[in-house]
Amino acid sequence: MKLFHSPASPFVRKVRVAAKLRGLDARIELVPANPHLSPPELLAANPLSKIPALVRDDGTALIDSLVICEYLDTLGDAPRLIPAAGAARVTALQIHAIADGILDAAVARRGNSQLPQDEARQKFDDRTKAVIARSLGLLEAMPPAPMDITGATIGCALGYLDFRFAHEPWRATYPKLAAWFEGVNKLPAFTETMPVG
Ligand code: BEZ
Repeated sequence: MKLFHSPASPFVRKVRVAAKLRGLDARIELVPANPHLSPPELLAANPLSKIPALVRDDGTALIDSLVICEYLDTLGDAPRLIPAAGAARVTALQIHAIADGILDAAVARRGNSQLPQDEARQKFDDRTKAVIARSLGLLEAMPPAPMDITGATIGCALGYLDFRFAHEPWRATYPKLAAWFEGVNKLPAFTETMPVG
């Protein structure tokens, strides 16, 4: 399989963490792609020009990190990261949606911060910062996440905040998340996928 990736993308990292947790890493070849440049090989896999995009061994492509993780769950015989059905699945997808929303907001905030600042962009920054703060507050109040799709995504979200917003410390405000992340951030799935760029 080929995974179009950037080493800075937390969405790609989620897929890589999932693959490592399920012992599938060796089956995935990383193909660097800059979605802002829309290279034709990425567009052939994903007309949205977004990463991650996974080209399966039969040549067909999957897009969207959650869809790709769902596919990875069908391979190998390690325990699934996304519960197959029922209330457990709904709960996991709901918590995933919160953590994924932090990723959306943080990536958008990072992009916005690279632009000349005016009042509208400052307001956007305030709004996305508040989205992240509210969502971290929700996760802080929940029991510690297991290392399934929820833990993988929360870990990638906190890792992205450390990576791009290191000047805005979050640990003192969210001590339970900080204690949880202390252990998670030492797992091989995380140490081997540290963002760079
Ligand atoms: C980043 O540089 O922060 C980034 C790169 C690709 C996707 C998302 C974020």
